[in-house]
Amino acid sequence: ADAFDEQCDYLFKAVLVGDSGVGKSNLISRFSKDEFKLDSKPTIGVEFAYRNIKVRDKLIKAQIWDTAGQERFRAITSSYYRGALGAMLVYDITNQATFVNVEKWLHELREFGGEDMVVVLVGNKSDLGQSREVEREEGKGFAEREGLCFMETSALQNLNVEEAFLEMITKIH
Ligand code: GTP
Ligand code: MG
Repeated sequence: ADAFDEQCDYLFKAVLVGDSGVGKSNLISRFSKDEFKLDSKPTIGVEFAYRNIKVRDKLIKAQIWDTAGQERFRAITSSYYRGALGAMLVYDITNQATFVNVEKWLHELREFGGEDMVVVLVGNKSDLGQSREVEREEGKGFAEREGLCFMETSALQNLNVEEAFLEMITKIH
């Protein structure tokens, strides 16, 4: 264990969900390693990433879980959500169908996630404004009605990625 692990005050588990191709894995790699891949492969099963952060003088180890948006590649749902304190529900602003499916993902989050789980709705790929199919106001309105935090991000341009993860992590406690 490194020095941080020995001093770490909290371990937080957070999960990402949303349709295949919305950019979950790239949001995580941007946040945890400052990396982005134009040609990333669909996730199979479950992957993890970590990042250590300081929030109000507490050292937090964020453990971020990533799974496949594609049903046939998904891991067992109940164990994916077990113990998660935060969730990021991601759609693609250039793909209306991924926004329609947000409702389905939220249903699953509420079925399997804990009652106090902090949920951030994220409209990713904000760099592709010329192909936009979901208006910012639609995302924001949905989030307000459902009591979620909301943010538009670009993993490619590194816009609001840090902010979205920090919003989730700082709201957890
Ligand atoms: P699954 O693992 O199949 O569920 O998909 P995913 O949600 O993890 O998507 P992934 O991160 O693999 O990204 C899918 C594609 O979208 C890749 O080609 C990425 O390069 C691209 N992508 C991800 N984020 C952005 C973004 O912010 N802007 C643009 N323009 N492309 C993005
Ligand atoms: Mg993925």
